[in-house]
Amino acid sequence: MATGTASGLPRVPQTVTWSEKMRTWRDGQGQERSPCPFLNTVANHGIINYSGQDITTNRIRHVFRDDFGLKGLVLLVLMGGVHTFAAQERLHTRIASASHFHLRQIGQHGFVEHDASLTRRRHTCDNPKRAIPRDNAMIDGLLALAEDGYVTYNSVAQWRCQVRRQEERDGLHPPTKFPLRCRILAAGEVVGLLNVIGRDGRISVADAECFLKQERFPDNFEPAKLGNLAMLYLLWLTLVVFFKEEYVYWFGKQKDE
Ligand code: HEM
Repeated sequence: MATGTASGLPRVPQTVTWSEKMRTWRDGQGQERSPCPFLNTVANHGIINYSGQDITTNRIRHVFRDDFGLKGLVLLVLMGGVHTFAAQERLHTRIASASHFHLRQIGQHGFVEHDASLTRRRHTCDNPKRAIPRDNAMIDGLLALAEDGYVTYNSVAQWRCQVRRQEERDGLHPPTKFPLRCRILAAGEVVGLLNVIGRDGRISVADAECFLKQERFPDNFEPAKLGNLAMLYLLWLTLVVFFKEEYVYWFGKQKDE
């Protein structure tokens, strides 16, 4: 049975089927949200607390493991991030048993949030919250590079390169100040976008627009539930995407040139 949350909205019980979870989407405006389109989307569908607050680590593990079939090292890495935010919250509240976090923590610059975003403006000292809301013009820029109606690794590499070059022109970050860790994290996010939300390394423009702009799962979306080998493959792909993006940046010909 659904129980209430701090936001007064019903909490989705863990026994509810995926298609029932999909029906509960509502716009997240005015709620606490993060720079991560995935976490915002599961909040907008009420799969985690719609308010974006007091999300338990158990709840998010359930979403990753049972809804999305993520396991092994991939699950460990994702949960590692979540546990760090929960530990911060424990320190902050001084409640030793607390094991929850809030979406606002995810926007903290320099931990997971980085300067290599595809759909967000980079954080600046003047405006640290600039990196949290999505920027629809940036999303349009990415979608415009789709190939045969699909956003692919190539589209993403081209777009990332355009964003980096523009920021360098704006004097925001010379390449030497763009840390390796950020680039690898960013590559992992691309792998998630094209294989967890999309399939087999690509996502249709319509689905990408739905997921990135509305922060909503596309109609008829079903999680892929990948096997153990596929998990290793995702990690391998992260390295491949990282090298591909670097190659396009240093040696590739830009579509706008
Ligand atoms: C299945 C799980 C997940 C998927 C598919 C996913 C997907 C994505 C994607 C596609 C982006 C890139 C957005 C962009 O470049 O504009 C992103 C960004 C981000 N994700 Fe996630 N994510 C997942 C889990 C998580 C978790 C567990 C955390 C935190 C513990 C997290 C934190 C972030 C943050 C902070 C960003 C912003 C990075 C930046 O642009 O500065 N994500 N995510």
